[in-house]
Amino acid sequence: MLKINLKILKKEAKKEIEGAKNLKELDEIFRKYLGEKGELRQILHSLKDLPQLKRKETGKLANQIKKEIEETLKKKKSNIQNLISNIQKQEWVDITIPGKKPVLGHLHPLTQVKREVEEIFQSMGFSVVEGPEIENEWYNFDALNIPKDHPARDMWDTLWLKDKGAKLLLRTHTSPVQIHYMEKNQPPLRIIVPGSVFRHEATDTRHEFQLYQVEGLMVDKEISVANLKAILAEFFKRFFGKNTAFRLDPDFFPFTEPSFNVSVTCVICEGKGCNLCKKTGWLEMAGAGMVHPNVFKNSGLNLNPPAGEWRGWAFGFGLERLAMMKYKIDDVRLFRSGDLRFLNQF
Ligand code: FA5
Repeated sequence: MLKINLKILKKEAKKEIEGAKNLKELDEIFRKYLGEKGELRQILHSLKDLPQLKRKETGKLANQIKKEIEETLKKKKSNIQNLISNIQKQEWVDITIPGKKPVLGHLHPLTQVKREVEEIFQSMGFSVVEGPEIENEWYNFDALNIPKDHPARDMWDTLWLKDKGAKLLLRTHTSPVQIHYMEKNQPPLRIIVPGSVFRHEATDTRHEFQLYQVEGLMVDKEISVANLKAILAEFFKRFFGKNTAFRLDPDFFPFTEPSFNVSVTCVICEGKGCNLCKKTGWLEMAGAGMVHPNVFKNSGLNLNPPAGEWRGWAFGFGLERLAMMKYKIDDVRLFRSGDLRFLNQF
């Protein structure tokens, strides 16, 4: 009986050794059959109960099988070790080779310019405020003194949202935030409002359908266009890093009276006239003016008493235009082109 057991054991052990995939598995097989509590050991222990002749015969067979298993284990072990060293040779890593530098990104030029503008105005006492990009008609138009059916609405080609009756739209300018802010705050006020605005219009070198604006609003006692001009002059000086020629030309906005547009000398042609500035030598940066009394009224701003002293001015810069004049960029569409050759210059 023992002899048969020994032969079966040998067969099974060899089969398992053959199938072992690594040194750990081989070690387990060794322990299973030849270890302290291994199956072969147990058989060898039980030999003492056999009659002498049988013990000798079976003992011899057991030792022979032990040797065979040991041999097979040894061979398999060296096979696996060879395999490992071959793989290690092939996969040799040269730890002295310098590492690959990951490509680091950087802030988009418009983000850089936006932060710079914020810093300049903050240093002049303005707070940075944000407002919603989705507006209703009241905030984008009516409250800004642009009644329904007024031709002034055509100044901003609007992207309307498909909704059920609420008449929501993507704001066409940052001016609605004037209303939001004045609904909740009492003068004196000094804010700037950077943010995206959206227009349903054809693009060209000066026009995008999505752009950033920076609204400015100041409400204080006895302020005038002279204060507006002084703040603009200080801003341009710090932003462009030199005294930059700018001018205010009469314009029309329903929410300011009087209204202006603000232009700076075109840096592309240095004022000589080029395609970007339509040969005028000037490029428009902003709309501006003194806040219209109806805008105060529609914000529910209580300017009494004494009403006459409180006045406000506002402006709305195009951030892309500012960046274009700072970095001599002659096409606004480059900013959102995703062209790394352009973006990596900043
Ligand atoms: C307005 O949007 C007014 N809300 C500005 C304003 C604010 C006036 C407060 C008075 C008081 P306008 O549509 O002109 O105005 O746009 C203001 C500025 O945004 C422009 O001067 C220009 O610099 C920039 N801008 C306007 N449209 C585009 C466009 N399609 N692409 C790039 N920049 C633009």
